[in-house]
Amino acid sequence: MDSTQVLREHGFDLDLAGEAQLNDMKQLREEFTRFMMLYKFGIDEVTTKLSILQEEFSLVHDYNPIEHLTSRLKTPESIIHKVKRKQCNPSFDSIRASVMDIAGVRITCSFVSDTYRVFDMLTGQQDIRVVEVKDYIKNPKPNGYKSLHAILEVPVFMSTGVVPVMVEVQIRTVAMDFWASLEHKIYYKYNKDVPANLVGELRAAADTANQLDLTMERLHDEVKKFEQSSVVVPTTTRATERPKLSDRTLRDLNEARQSFFQHSDSE
Ligand code: GTP
Ligand code: MG
Repeated sequence: MDSTQVLREHGFDLDLAGEAQLNDMKQLREEFTRFMMLYKFGIDEVTTKLSILQEEFSLVHDYNPIEHLTSRLKTPESIIHKVKRKQCNPSFDSIRASVMDIAGVRITCSFVSDTYRVFDMLTGQQDIRVVEVKDYIKNPKPNGYKSLHAILEVPVFMSTGVVPVMVEVQIRTVAMDFWASLEHKIYYKYNKDVPANLVGELRAAADTANQLDLTMERLHDEVKKFEQSSVVVPTTTRATERPKLSDRTLRDLNEARQSFFQHSDSE
């Protein structure tokens, strides 16, 4: 039963103009659902790609560059707000062309080098088109904000054909993410007019976060170098040959060392 029938059943006498208006509303609602659905699928495409990389890294390599993955679909209120701010035509086509962060995916990494590594792995995939890149890690915002932003276009395979969908991807370290979420809270708490002393303290906190990232990266490099230099390759033995005691001991030591680093990486 459609909405006009429901209204009639409840005693509403709709004239032709009213009926046409209701049909328009119904059509608009359906169009909006289709519009949002594509962005949800765009997020699904990107997060699936990232989950595959994440799983591959944990199974094949003993290290995973993706610490955390989140996504969000912009709310209708927030889309309308941005349409007004950008003064764009409120048609679906122009919203699609000018509001490029309706679908958003955020990737958190442990180290700065991993943010670029994940970016390269994702954008190197042949079905992804890079529309725009903003590297706020190399060029931080004046307030101290750091993150690697990219607008990616991904194909979504619908029953009627392939639809290209824009997804905004933000890649940052845990330290950058910690800073950005606090700054975001403060920004909105003060209704976008943050007192000068807090702006200064936030700037200083961004420098501290940056120092932490530099130190962690250096320590990470040192551990990697140590690992590479201390890998002991046991002399090969034929499958039927019982390994000599010294080889077995070396192999056990190697395994214990690898498992130690696996555990300390996951902490
Ligand atoms: P839009 O038209 O709003 O997309 O402007 P833009 O493309 O210049 O935005 P930009 O790519 O710089 O930032 C988009 C998103 O990054 C925001 O929605 C936030 O999630 C995040 N972001 C950017 N700047 C800041 C900042 O100073 N602080 C925090 N906490 N987040 C930021
Ligand atoms: Mg943007």
